[in-house]
Amino acid sequence: MKFLPLILFSLLVIFISCNSNERINRELFDEVNKSMEVKKLSDFQITSAALEWGNELSVKAQEELMKALNQAISDAGPSGAIEFCNVNALPILKEVGEKNNVVIKRVSSLPRNPNAYPDDYEKDILSAYEYNAENNITNEPNIQKINGGEVLLYTKAIQIPGGLCLQCHGNIGKEVSLETAEKIKKHYPEDKATGYALNELRGMWSIKIPRKEVVKKL
Ligand code: HEC
Repeated sequence: MKFLPLILFSLLVIFISCNSNERINRELFDEVNKSMEVKKLSDFQITSAALEWGNELSVKAQEELMKALNQAISDAGPSGAIEFCNVNALPILKEVGEKNNVVIKRVSSLPRNPNAYPDDYEKDILSAYEYNAENNITNEPNIQKINGGEVLLYTKAIQIPGGLCLQCHGNIGKEVSLETAEKIKKHYPEDKATGYALNELRGMWSIKIPRKEVVKKL
């Protein structure tokens, strides 16, 4: 079975060479190539690869954000870093996404940036993560096919891992200083992202990976 695509391919080449009078049918050629691709890669292989890649990309994106966040906090303190995040958080994710031909976002039901509300696909998964978090069920990364299977949606829960996050997402007047709260209000008048506690679910990573990008990597 393993050699079937190769045999088909060789037959096609022989067929074409033996019919030198006939114009090479490019479409037929592409069609055979395409069917070989489909045969070689199972859905399971593609989903597993997308899951692995999604994990890598979310870690990479988180690293880039943390690097910038730590730098901004040490330069300007948490309240100054609000301005930094306001300008830079989304472009940092956009850059990592564009480098890899995927779309990377962080979404939340209680977002700071109003652009971070989940879309219809993301909403269902985020609700499931919220249900799990409330019921002490571990949230696992997930892959779901969207756009008729053209795109694989990778998701991973984001919890509040440490005290650093609480400086901007904890309780106002407690972990969040009044100065920081003021900056948040200025840049995000509709902010919903304070009042969090350690280990609470803050939102999730959403990475939309075109299926063809996964196939390219395999
Ligand atoms: C210096 C303040 C600051 C710290 C510290 C901070 N954040 Fe945020 N966070 C922000 C700001 C500002 C935004 C909105 C960025 C934007 O405009 O996209 C944000 C956005 C987010 C979002 C995207 C969804 C939304 O609400 O807009 C998530 C998820 C998030 N933060 C999680 C965390 C986690 C987890 C930590 C700790 C590792 C953390 N944050 C630390 C200020 C901070």
